[in-house]
Amino acid sequence: MNQMKEVSSGEMLSLCKRRGFIYPAYEIYGGIAGLYDYGPLGTALKGNIADLWRRTYVLQEGFVEIDGDTIGPEAVFKASGHVDNFADLSVTCKACGESFRADHLAKGLHPNPDSLSIEELQGLLRANGVRCPCGGEFADVEEFNLMFKTKIGPGAGRTGYLRPETAQSIFVNYINLYRHCRERLPFGCIQVGRGYRNEISPRQGVIRLREFNMMEAELFVDPEDKSWPRYGRIKDRKVRLVPNTDGVEVEMGIGEAVDRGIIGNETLAYFIWVTYDFLTAVGIDPARLRFRQHLKAEMAHYASDCWDAEALISFGWTEIVGIADRGCWDLSQHMRFSKADLTAFKRFDEPKEVERDAIRPKFGAIGPRFKGAAGDIKRQMEAMDASAIHDGLVTVIVDGTPVDLDADHYDVVRVREKVNGVRVVPHVIEPSHGLDRILYSCLEHAYAERDGYVTLRLRPAVAPIKVGVFPLMAKDGMEEVAKALDLALREEGIATYYDDSGSIGRRYARMDEVGTPWCVTVDYDTLEKGDVTIRDRDTAEQARVPADDVVAWVKDRLKHGLVC
Ligand code: ATP
Ligand code: GLY
Repeated sequence: MNQMKEVSSGEMLSLCKRRGFIYPAYEIYGGIAGLYDYGPLGTALKGNIADLWRRTYVLQEGFVEIDGDTIGPEAVFKASGHVDNFADLSVTCKACGESFRADHLAKGLHPNPDSLSIEELQGLLRANGVRCPCGGEFADVEEFNLMFKTKIGPGAGRTGYLRPETAQSIFVNYINLYRHCRERLPFGCIQVGRGYRNEISPRQGVIRLREFNMMEAELFVDPEDKSWPRYGRIKDRKVRLVPNTDGVEVEMGIGEAVDRGIIGNETLAYFIWVTYDFLTAVGIDPARLRFRQHLKAEMAHYASDCWDAEALISFGWTEIVGIADRGCWDLSQHMRFSKADLTAFKRFDEPKEVERDAIRPKFGAIGPRFKGAAGDIKRQMEAMDASAIHDGLVTVIVDGTPVDLDADHYDVVRVREKVNGVRVVPHVIEPSHGLDRILYSCLEHAYAERDGYVTLRLRPAVAPIKVGVFPLMAKDGMEEVAKALDLALREEGIATYYDDSGSIGRRYARMDEVGTPWCVTVDYDTLEKGDVTIRDRDTAEQARVPADDVVAWVKDRLKHGLVC
């Protein structure tokens, strides 16, 4: 039996490189901090984790999926707040010029350095005499915006940015998605794709990348109803929570946390559970997984409540997923900047009589000024109410361009009318997964040793290779039988590795080290009796199985997520 073992990041990254999981990018040019490439096995592992995640959200939870652009115009990220607010605090050494994240230097000096202001961090570092590893003194703490800026098109071009999160591609497609999802709340959309952040000092392998892989789900919900239909099924399940009230870790039922107001609402709670379920299914050790609530001062500019799924790895407790209630921040901001209507219609059970302040166009002013377009402008204004007035102006769209009209063009009148529903700006609940951090944590949590050899106890569902196929010796017809078996497995979509070189022990060790759950050996008995040996990675136990049953045997175990 192999023993689970804590591994250092150095050992892990060296195994990753040697066995083709993760390579430092541009290594022949000296490499660049924060950029890594996935090798053949890492790419397969990443794809398998992403496939399971899609299965969770699309098949199990009924979300739709899109694939958006990674470059966006400035207006999008002005609206989202990233151009103005997406910054970390940095300090640079006066002697060697090296920069560091100021909050990372303050770890151990404060329980939550992430929540400190620029002045507080500055004071803390000074008071503790924190210096650069080279011995040099630091300059003042300053804000550093993490956005990668670029130009779209030649010449002066248009300012653009690489997206720092995939979420914005979903928000800017809200109208299309709302329509696609039959104009009913709630509905959800996912995306798997790249995000870019010009991190200040990426020194932790794939934990802090400048180009990274995200799996984000955006769930659009009724702002007044954050209940969730399937919440009842999971509310008794327990998870480890670290609430922001006292920062003390507790194991608690999801339902109890909602009832006690620790988790803000059922939907957020439900997706904390979905996240737990997914992470443990891909191989995160439940004993090394917890959900920590952000302090108010730590919360991103868009969030009203946020929980991080944190995994305990060699870098300490590390955020791998952020689950946030983003409220109406994103859609309201994009409405303000784009003038598009990003609302949803909320139908009442029965029509209601309501009073409202309606806008009535003054046709005497609009007609002569806008001529042929006047009728359309009148319709737009009649659909608004007084809440659409900003700084005394009403914005209408004329030939695709927003035009502000002052009070000479409208009156506000109190009207009483029967309505079937109201338009609301949906709120967004967002589970945002860092695929690279999840993958790396799975590798560390899978790390074990037997007799001095490394075994990665990866879950079969995510293991890049499912079956090693070996002829005992490449002679006497064993090779042909093994090759036929290998082909039969691959034809069923099961990833295999055919190996006929070296001792069987060495071949097992090679497969153990890359996390292959099963190895099938064709031997002399196979030629006589038609059965093969299947050896289990985690127990090293061996079973004889008819060669004709191997495909079904493996498929059955993969289907039921069995480890052995
Ligand atoms: P951190 O505090 O570690 O910088 P964050 O709070 O900025 O992370 P989020 O903005 O919540 O992270 O991003 C969502 C997810 O994306 C995170 O849970 C994490 O898994 C992943 N992620 C964020 N930044 C990086 C990065 N630079 N490299 C790899 N993954 C990242
Ligand atoms: N979409 C979550 C984040 O990037 O912060």
